[in-house]
Amino acid sequence: MKVLVTGGAGYIGSHICVQLLEAGHELVVLDNLSNSNEEALIRVKELAGRDFTFYQISLQDRNAVERVFQKNELDAVVHLAGSKAVGESVSFPLDYYRNNVAGTLVLCEAMSRAGVRRLVFSSSATVYGKPDKCPIHEQSPLRANNPYGRSKLMIEDILHDLHASDPRWSIAVLRYFNPIGAHRSGLIGEDPKGEPNNLLPYITQVAIGQRDKLIIFGNDYPTPDGTGIRDYIHVEDLACGHLKALEKLGRQTGIAAYNLGTGKGYSVLDIVRVFERATGRHIPLQFADRRPGDVAESYAYPGKAKLELDWAAIRGIEEMCADAWRWQSLNPYGYLDVHRSYANTL
Ligand code: WQD
Repeated sequence: MKVLVTGGAGYIGSHICVQLLEAGHELVVLDNLSNSNEEALIRVKELAGRDFTFYQISLQDRNAVERVFQKNELDAVVHLAGSKAVGESVSFPLDYYRNNVAGTLVLCEAMSRAGVRRLVFSSSATVYGKPDKCPIHEQSPLRANNPYGRSKLMIEDILHDLHASDPRWSIAVLRYFNPIGAHRSGLIGEDPKGEPNNLLPYITQVAIGQRDKLIIFGNDYPTPDGTGIRDYIHVEDLACGHLKALEKLGRQTGIAAYNLGTGKGYSVLDIVRVFERATGRHIPLQFADRRPGDVAESYAYPGKAKLELDWAAIRGIEEMCADAWRWQSLNPYGYLDVHRSYANTL
């Protein structure tokens, strides 16, 4: 298939692009590079040994998005482009609704006009808010408790209405749990701008000496060791879930949501311990108050994806930590110190 990946230069997007190319698909990437680096796409090409088209445009630029669909005979879209920091969304909600929701409307209108009706949408476990219990099923209550999560929920509702208006649409909504790790080559990985919000990139920056210690947000949660429990999933397993979803879209129409997680929960202290064992690096710790909006526990029931997508995570937490460390140790400043260009003109 010829697949458009929006946000393809990002952490998750770049890993999906490598697997799409390796699987023989033709690839078009659309990314405004607001939270990613063109260097990642050059490395995607090097890893896959295949070329592809990249347009540096924003989903807010309706004319440019239309031109992408006019210039490329697309079969499907994997839609990842969007803002994804919970704390930032609380401070700048309008940016999140414009970027995530309005951007998706522009994309879906261009898809509809072009007759492209296969869509894999990047959603998030954040749509579940504070779960009543774990493991979390796709039928668990949806109750996002921040603008980022609400933007994802709004988009899911929009996609349901779109399918109801035209049943020819094939839509897979993938709810990511906690993606971590990196491609085994260490060439592509998570490259947060500024101080990392998420646990693993913060740990790897402590391990490489860029941060002096890990602050653990809360050790008084109702969990075995008091720290927060999450379902960490290797970004390569997550990427594979997208290819499996695309295969399903090629077989049947409809809309369905899938939890992409391992089904196992690990606490912050578990992760620190596994990381230290896997890398031989020491992570100094300091406990602090809980982070607003954090939940005690969140891990998936991934049975529906196994049944309907024939997908399951296969990589363990040790591999996730070792791969995250390899990326960080080979790229101490991420993609920052490399500036090669790759963009096509529309
Ligand atoms: C994991 C655990 C923290 C950093 C978020 C988004 C979610 C998704 C993934 C986009 C928690 C603890 C963290 C630190 C810490 N993003 N922690 N010290 O919050 O589960 O999910 O990222 O889709 O939507 O909500 O991930 O990595 O931030 O936190 O103690 O410096 O690590 O309290 O228990 P989270 P996280």
